[in-house]
Amino acid sequence: MEKEENKSQGRDQWASSLGFIMAAAGSAVGLGNLWRFPFLVGQHGGSAFLIIYLLFLVFIGLSLVLAEISIGRSAQLDAVSSFNLISPKLKWVGGMGILTGFILLSYYPVVGGWIVYYLYHCSSSAVSNTDFQQLFIEYTSNPTFSIVTLLIYSCLGYGIVVCGVEKGIEKYSKIMMPALLVILLLVMCRTISLDGAMKGIKFLIHPDFSKVTGKTILDAMGQVFFSLSLGMGAMLTYGSYIKKDANIIKSSVSIPLIDASVAYLAAIAIIPAVFAFGVEPTQGPSLIFITLPAIFTKMPMGTFISIIFFILMLFAALTSSISMQESLVAYLIDHKGWKRFNATTFIAVLIFFTAIPSCLSFGILKDFHLLPGKNVFDTLDFFASNILLPFGGLMLCICVGWLWDGGLKSKTIIERTSDGETIIREAIIFNKPLQEITNNGHISFPFLSAWVFMIKWVCPLVILTIFISNL
Ligand code: TRP
Repeated sequence: MEKEENKSQGRDQWASSLGFIMAAAGSAVGLGNLWRFPFLVGQHGGSAFLIIYLLFLVFIGLSLVLAEISIGRSAQLDAVSSFNLISPKLKWVGGMGILTGFILLSYYPVVGGWIVYYLYHCSSSAVSNTDFQQLFIEYTSNPTFSIVTLLIYSCLGYGIVVCGVEKGIEKYSKIMMPALLVILLLVMCRTISLDGAMKGIKFLIHPDFSKVTGKTILDAMGQVFFSLSLGMGAMLTYGSYIKKDANIIKSSVSIPLIDASVAYLAAIAIIPAVFAFGVEPTQGPSLIFITLPAIFTKMPMGTFISIIFFILMLFAALTSSISMQESLVAYLIDHKGWKRFNATTFIAVLIFFTAIPSCLSFGILKDFHLLPGKNVFDTLDFFASNILLPFGGLMLCICVGWLWDGGLKSKTIIERTSDGETIIREAIIFNKPLQEITNNGHISFPFLSAWVFMIKWVCPLVILTIFISNL
């Protein structure tokens, strides 16, 4: 018994609620906000998309964030072990989350590598003479450059996760998140003061509902999932490090709030620049890596703005990819009894190699299509974002809304001692969802029944409908 207590005391925890909020908001704020959101806004009628996105965020995103965090906090274990506590038959839901995390990590860091390269380019050569279209093509089709920058980015992520939850993820998120916000505000001030920026602001204020189609709804929901890091156990894992007396309702409200604010600020920073230089706002993914840098080159202080902009992107990407990494690392530590150093190193090496095909998908493997018209990178993104994440979200609602009944459970903790592996079983009272989110009735939450209704009925039905039409 003494050992069991030692072990649970020894599990990593956030030092403060603020630390958790910064880390979780860091997970949420990522390429999804800075890269995907602005071009989706451009393509789907400006503020019309903003409104639909916000509705999904408030009604579905918020409920699901609270649901996912509550499972983790209740079990204080990784995703697989947590779902195992709800029912051993549901272990596969956690397993699917691990698989999704693995797939995400085999392409998300590739974009991190691009950012590293852009940062290097902008700080070492004259940005005003660069043709970014050319640069992007030359760089992504050069296997050595792409792989080396991927390696640098992967080392940064590894360096943070290997230091642990408090001394790594929390510490660096508390630096990177505020810095990110300051830089974003700086870039925004620069772009909205450009001549012609008002047209962009108008585009963001007047909704054009004529551009709203079925695809807009799909994209808005997909964006909420991806942007809030839902459906794979990343929030669950971060939630598992929250102290038992912390208020998870407050934290769960702050995360979507920060996430949406950053997405809006990013749109305000980017769209006016696009209008000021007479470029179409409907540009797709190339917006950030081709159009925007080209615009920066034409404005006063362009080099400085480019550098800080790519630092901003780097911070956003890093705080997100470390959360995916941490979910896999937590699985190896909690479920398999590995030491953090070994688990982090193993995952880092593994994902570096599995990311290589996506890394080469814009060069050597350009014509290698796994799905019609989709290279390896696009295929992995399609599977993860459009299939696995919404499905994970659906299962999350079913588990929390219908199957999680708490009670006395046997929790397995694996501890390695010097004489080999020792498995410790601990009998615990596994809270029910409502007990967990209200800290056994100590926190009052006026929307409790609304939350239950959302998780049981509205969220699964909406996700299912959209999921089916997506397929
Ligand atoms: N939310 C991040 C972004 O907006 C991406 C992300 C991080 C993610 N962790 C995740 C997406 C877990 C899904 C699941 O870029």
